Amino acid sequence: MKVICVSGVPGTGKTTLSRKLAAKLDYFYLDVNRFISEHKISSGYDKKRKTEIIDIVKLNKALIKEIKNNKKMKGIIIDSHLSHYLPRKYVNFCVITKCAIKELNKRLKKKCFGKNKIKENLQAEIFDVCYNEAIGKKHKIIVADTTKDFNMFDLSKKLSG
Ligand SMILES: Nc1ncnc2c1ncn2[C@@H]1O[C@H](COP(=O)(O)OP(=O)(O)OP(=O)(O)O)[C@@H](O)[C@H]1O
Ligand SMILES: [Mg+2]
Repeated sequence: MKVICVSGVPGTGKTTLSRKLAAKLDYFYLDVNRFISEHKISSGYDKKRKTEIIDIVKLNKALIKEIKNNKKMKGIIIDSHLSHYLPRKYVNFCVITKCAIKELNKRLKKKCFGKNKIKENLQAEIFDVCYNEAIGKKHKIIVADTTKDFNMFDLSKKLSG
């Protein structure tokens, strides 16, 4: 079974890309936000940062269990800005979605994120936080620029090959 994690800063197009990829490759699509609430992984809500507090060790444990339980599947696409924290040995490819800052700003405004949250996420994108963390985990990385429509054919070929 192929395991593909799709990570990137909020608004850079993880869900859009993951769903298209899962449909194209006939892989199982795993929405980590839903998984977190179904498995009660959140350990509270950070009011200031307006985000759930997630224990990565706990999340990874649950995701690894899910991967092992679905070994018979053709593949799984794990959609989350936390998915690149998975240990390298469980992951075939890590796709990092990226987006031009001007466009990302527009997208985050459309998502009705507050000023601070927008600033925080734009900075994370400028400093390539997800990409650098994925490098730190030694993942096999493919960068997908979603500023405009991307070539799904090339990407799915790389990932399934
Ligand atoms: N390749 C693309 N071309 C144009 N617009 C895109 C593209 N990918 C995503 N978008 C748009 O960008 C917005 C954010 O996309 P999406 O929800 O997939 O991001 P995300 O990374 O999953 O965000 P979050 O982390 O908040 O879940 C959506 O309005 C979507 O339509
Ligand atoms: Mg999403």
